[in-house]
Amino acid sequence: MGRVVIAGSINMDVVATADRHPRVGETVAGRQVLYFPGGKGANQAVAASRLGARTTLIGLLGKDSFAEELKAFLGDQAVDLGYVRETADAHTGTAIITVAEADNTIVVIPGTNALVSADDVSVVPLLKGDVAVSQFEIPLPTIAAFFQRARSAQATTVLNPAPAQKFAHDLLELVDILVLNESELGLLAGVDLSEGDEPARIMGVARQLRAREDQTICVTLGKRGVLALAAREEIVVAGRVVQAVDTTGAGDCFVGALAAQLAGGAALRDALAFANAAASISVQRMGAGPSMPTAAEVAAVL
Ligand code: RIB
Repeated sequence: MGRVVIAGSINMDVVATADRHPRVGETVAGRQVLYFPGGKGANQAVAASRLGARTTLIGLLGKDSFAEELKAFLGDQAVDLGYVRETADAHTGTAIITVAEADNTIVVIPGTNALVSADDVSVVPLLKGDVAVSQFEIPLPTIAAFFQRARSAQATTVLNPAPAQKFAHDLLELVDILVLNESELGLLAGVDLSEGDEPARIMGVARQLRAREDQTICVTLGKRGVLALAAREEIVVAGRVVQAVDTTGAGDCFVGALAAQLAGGAALRDALAFANAAASISVQRMGAGPSMPTAAEVAAVL
């Protein structure tokens, strides 16, 4: 059984809830202000750990009260924090989130996440069978250094290129499994993709983006489920009908669950179905980190 090793962001999410989102230039009355542990890297680590994988997080916190709260929360989830450093050079990553009508807007201020370096990813042991995961809330050269090490160790690399930005082909070539949503796929492939696009068209764009024949591209489609273009098969996982209250972190739940399943030796098709179910649970709860389900909860809905 491999481990999940995640190099990524750790944020405090400052969440305002309201009945509807304000338009640009408008002020609306909110209902609550809530503080949730977040950050794509930390959320994925919490999901993987709660779902039973031995999970290590590599990241950087500030020396402030948010850092103390985040460390305590992540420690309680049994995430190994031995490679999370602290620095006084910046504040802990913070996300300002508005949740209304079960949808969100997010502004992320990277803080210490922008300082995670190639040195930070150079010391963690990586072995064959481990799953190395990253996202785009830490510097891209750091991710490239991490994935180079992972591939030399014959670990599987999983990239969630969110928030989406164009990136070098060299980095894409280091990725074994790319996990993204349809709008991120559209941006990276330079194609206009929208929510209602047919699976065949989405698969076609994924094929266009693929950097290697043996690379897997998983496209999450929210309530429509997941599509995956793998080396020898195309997989379709149907969406699950649930009552969503907050979709923040649902994509992270999917990535963390997928990594945990693959580290445990699951076949891709089963891992995708499991991750899809896990994400459908997370959207029924408020917050990012705290909304991640346990293995027993996922087993109950499968
Ligand atoms: O993916 C959700 C996450 O994005 C939030 O937890 C927030 O911190 C931002 O990083």
